[in-house]
Amino acid sequence: MASTVPSIERAARGVTSAPVLDFLRRPKRLLIGGKWVTAKSGKTFETINPANEEVLALVPEGDKADVDEAVKTARKAYEYGKWPTINPHQRAKYLLTIADLIEKHVDELAILETLNNGMAISLARGFTLMAADTFRYYAGWATKIYGETNPSDPSMFNYTLREPVGVCGQIIPWNGPIAMLAWKIAPALACGNVSILKPAEQTPLTALRIGELIMEADLPEGVVNIVTGYGETAGAAIASHPDIDKVAFTGSTEVGKLILQASSGNLKRVSLELGGKSPNIVFPDADLEDAVPTSLMGFCMLSGQVCCAGTRVFVQSDFHDRFVDHLTHYASKVKAGDPLDASTMVGPLVSKEQFNRVNGYIGTGKNEGAKTAIGGQVRTGKGFFVDPTIFTDVKNSMKIAREEIFGPVAAVIPFKDENDAVFQGNDTTYGLAAAVWTRDVSRAFRVARAIKAGTVWVNCYNNIDPISPFGGYKQSGIGRELGKHSLDLYTQIKSVYVKL
Ligand code: NAI
Ligand code: MG
Repeated sequence: MASTVPSIERAARGVTSAPVLDFLRRPKRLLIGGKWVTAKSGKTFETINPANEEVLALVPEGDKADVDEAVKTARKAYEYGKWPTINPHQRAKYLLTIADLIEKHVDELAILETLNNGMAISLARGFTLMAADTFRYYAGWATKIYGETNPSDPSMFNYTLREPVGVCGQIIPWNGPIAMLAWKIAPALACGNVSILKPAEQTPLTALRIGELIMEADLPEGVVNIVTGYGETAGAAIASHPDIDKVAFTGSTEVGKLILQASSGNLKRVSLELGGKSPNIVFPDADLEDAVPTSLMGFCMLSGQVCCAGTRVFVQSDFHDRFVDHLTHYASKVKAGDPLDASTMVGPLVSKEQFNRVNGYIGTGKNEGAKTAIGGQVRTGKGFFVDPTIFTDVKNSMKIAREEIFGPVAAVIPFKDENDAVFQGNDTTYGLAAAVWTRDVSRAFRVARAIKAGTVWVNCYNNIDPISPFGGYKQSGIGRELGKHSLDLYTQIKSVYVKL
């Protein structure tokens, strides 16, 4: 691809933060073995600001050769470096230092995230603070990873050790770059592993900046490596690499399946956090003051580019019309706009590709016979903006109710009664999340139990906290991240028999 020389003045228009502008001006490099290096091929690619389509920076296009190099240095760091000799308290300290550095630089990181991803600045701040919390949370676990002593025969002593898995390849998406980095790197390090992180090609910048902060935290070299590049090359090289022990992936279900296949070469451990088509079920006894705006943000937060977005809004038939009126009223106040503006709730989509994909689905919905209660117009001009769009007259069998759209688009679907709501809610190949809105406690618990999804929200939506596991049923993934469950992903168990 021919590279445009970035014009930071144009791409970061309106940004006055000196640290952000300084970072954008610095040449971008891969972090391998504690050093910042160019891609072996010398190639770079452009990364843009989706709000104005201007080039923000040129980023090294790492590929298989760079992944090989990163694996070599990571392996060395894991087996022979300082890393395996340090005690858990020291690992905890590193994680706490990284957390403090992220928090100290929250404004800078949030602006950079918004410039590169397009998410509303308030959300970028929230995600950045959540990333710091995630590092702190796993700092706590570093000193609490236990084995067991087992009731062995008296002539033996048997115990287990929980040991790190080794070299971890971690492939993250563009929708929540800082948060996803933390979900991957923090538990991996807490358990004593080393990491090769590949940020998404759309949003490599905050990972590179956090890479600098990790260097500042004085982590031993080679423990965290960052290789920017495309999925089909750098990502695929990680998934199939014979000397990577574990791959953790967040992204599309399609690529999740490719990764699972590629991992079979050396049977690496795999955890996958994939797509969703989450049901948000609203009963007539719900507190509408809360249910309506929260349901709206359930599919509009981050312009709907959220794996757990509540994109199928199920509403009991007899109050469907009233609910749609309310929802449309709130949606009419939300327009996709400048993400750097503190009052903006919905920014642009991340890329032209996603813009075309989402508008394509909106067209499909219309062709399938669904009606737009609001939105549905293709916006012109610079930036990949899509206004909140609500479809009614949707059947759960339509494409717009079955496939992940990943834009601020929801299908409102009526249901008859509780059984029907659960049946339709579960009638999907996905199972990442769900919500139920009701004041009836028994019903809330019944529905929460009946829904086949990894997370269920009762009278709320999109609440995510590192203390609690996150992941999918069905084709929404394999394994659970966050909470103590990440320890299962990043440790393996050894049983030791000692003859007495
Ligand atoms: P993607 O799954 O292709 O990209 C996610 C990450 O995987 C990126 O880092 C990418 O470089 C990497 N990747 C791509 N192909 C790879 C391969 N063959 N081997 C290894 N790594 C690879 O997602 P994409 O194409 O950007 O978005 C398409 C759709 O995927 C979205 O419309 C959305 O429906 C879904 N998606 C879901 C996400 C989630 O959070 N669950 C995040 C991003 C996308
Ligand atoms: Mg893709």
